[in-house]
Amino acid sequence: MSVRQKSIVLIGFMGVGKTTIGELIAKKLYRSFIDVDQEIEKDLNMTIPEIFEQHGEAFFRDYEKKKTCALAEQKLKVISIGGGAFLQPEIRETCLTNCIVFYLDVTWDEWKERLDLLIDSRPILQSRNIEEIEELFYKRQDAYSINHSKLTVNQRSAEEVADFIVDSLKHVWDMYEPRID
Ligand code: S3P
Repeated sequence: MSVRQKSIVLIGFMGVGKTTIGELIAKKLYRSFIDVDQEIEKDLNMTIPEIFEQHGEAFFRDYEKKKTCALAEQKLKVISIGGGAFLQPEIRETCLTNCIVFYLDVTWDEWKERLDLLIDSRPILQSRNIEEIEELFYKRQDAYSINHSKLTVNQRSAEEVADFIVDSLKHVWDMYEPRID
């Protein structure tokens, strides 16, 4: 597949801004945006907390795997995937093979300020105390570290991050597939 046609996938911990930043990137590149969690919610007509509560995490992970892999096989999209998705080897391989994967990183000190805003909609956080959440945060770095490009978000605005990603994509596209007019 041409590098210009590959979908862009955003990975990173819950609440890092994958959806907001992904929507902005999609607008700037005139592409459709897909949030995998929103697609799962639409398919099952339930919120993520309801899916966890009624069917359990194992069911969610299995559905997430099928849905994420199917969407990551499409071209010319901007896709935000769930914070736990990249821990599944099949999702990782499908995304890394078919798409350009950007890891949106955030420091723990910056992230923990966001916890109150996230907890109601994130079942993974509800069953853990702050020390356990911190452990999960650092444990996930290994899976996230397998990516095509990493960017630390912290205090940067969503607009700034989206612009940076779009600029670096244009650079990569021109480098690997220069336009000859
Ligand atoms: C999860 C992250 C969530 C959602 C689900 C599980 C996780 O997505 O997929 O609640 O395990 O980190 P966001 O990263 O979009 O919050």
